[in-house]
Amino acid sequence: MKKTYAIINYGCQMNESDSEHYAGQLLDLGYEASADYEHADVVVINTCCVRENAEKKILGKIGEMKRLKRENPDMVLCVAGCMAQEWGKDLQKKYPQVDLVLGTAHVNNFSSILQNHLAGHGRAESVYDDLTIMPQEFEGSFVRKSSFAAWVPIMYGCNNFCTYCIVPYVRGRERSRSAEAICHEIEKAVALGYKEFTLLGQNVNSYGKDRGEEEGFSKLLELVDAIPGVERIRYMTSHPRDMSEAVVRTIAESQHICKNFHIPVQSGSSRIMKAMNRGYDRERYLKLVETIRRCVPDAVITTDLIVGFPGETEKDFEETLDLLRTVEYDDAFTFIYSPRKGTPAAGFGAQVPDAVKHERLDRLMALQNEICLKRNKRLVGRTLAVMVEGPSKSNPAMLSGRTDGNDLVLWPKIRDHAPGDLVNVKMERAQTWLIRGKEEA
Ligand code: SAH
Ligand code: SF4
Ligand code: F3S
Repeated sequence: MKKTYAIINYGCQMNESDSEHYAGQLLDLGYEASADYEHADVVVINTCCVRENAEKKILGKIGEMKRLKRENPDMVLCVAGCMAQEWGKDLQKKYPQVDLVLGTAHVNNFSSILQNHLAGHGRAESVYDDLTIMPQEFEGSFVRKSSFAAWVPIMYGCNNFCTYCIVPYVRGRERSRSAEAICHEIEKAVALGYKEFTLLGQNVNSYGKDRGEEEGFSKLLELVDAIPGVERIRYMTSHPRDMSEAVVRTIAESQHICKNFHIPVQSGSSRIMKAMNRGYDRERYLKLVETIRRCVPDAVITTDLIVGFPGETEKDFEETLDLLRTVEYDDAFTFIYSPRKGTPAAGFGAQVPDAVKHERLDRLMALQNEICLKRNKRLVGRTLAVMVEGPSKSNPAMLSGRTDGNDLVLWPKIRDHAPGDLVNVKMERAQTWLIRGKEEA
């Protein structure tokens, strides 16, 4: 019988991509995916520590593995990703059921580390200390979750040190992959039928700077846009400080780059932006929004927001609400500030009480919901190209898909479509989170 593996993934798209790399390496070692992690021979927990609630949930999961290891002592438990990087050896001291601790720069060495462990060359083999190395190029088989959309890491790490954020400490400094390696990976995926590509990095606008390239991201976008068979290009995440007009123009003039600008603002108050070390103020941010709207009148603009950053007053928060009304974001990902040990903001005075944070989050979400509905309503009556994701989970008679701007669309199935097909759908009824439509005959 074949040995089996399970991967439990937490965190951002970068982690989802890393998890696909773990799966590929396990497949190449002869493992097959297990129906559940309870019975797998190798379990990888790929972790996130960006907020305390993520960390708590994951520690609960690692705790639960103690019983499984007792029932099946041969199971290999690997904890990988950002929390593994943060905790290092302390993780095994506290949770002896953990066999391997794998740091973020070693994602593509997993296969050799696992083999070493199984060959008995030392339990508790852990690699997490060197964050300066460039992760090895991935040479395994790709096991992607989607049959048409692929993640493509273009760079690792972050140099920004926003004062609330732990990512630079657990992902290291910015290191860009070569454009050749990136394009080669995309060409191979196109040959397998992939159509949509999301270029991943913590700060994609800095792509290439560590390799001495200016406007490296613009050039990379142009290269990817020209690869035959690439139908949609997305990217995550842009930093508003580094998003140049050149990049906006490249996107405006491109054939396949989606007109969806995710520009995390974090707060609407210049004072708080400064305390966060974001490198822009409200005025400069609004100039970027204006540039985007001027170059791409149809742009879909989304953002990330944190409420309850230390020192945030009611007035600062109202400036955030005001920014939402001014920009009219198509969507906003909203978070309650979570102090992270080792980051400057965790030591700032004037931490905001929990009750105030929750109350602000509720107000923020209520306003954004109104704006989401208003923005979705503007699409009603238009016919848009929608990339099919598949049957709707709640109603298999409906198909779901995404517009170029990443808006979710649902429509009654009148003919079969494969995931990844582009279909013309007329937008009929706007809701807060989705738009209902009708396929053009
Ligand atoms: N590099 C990306 C993603 C960073 S993490 C970027 O800069 O946008 C994703 C989001 O999590 C951030 O945009 C921020 O809104 C949020 N976040 C990060 N650290 C946080 C913290 N300590 N508390 C609450 N939210 C946080
Ligand atoms: Fe964190 Fe700021 Fe880097 Fe994003 S840009 S990963 S928020 S430090
Ligand atoms: Fe979490 Fe690490 Fe991503 S901390 S958000 S998994 S970079």
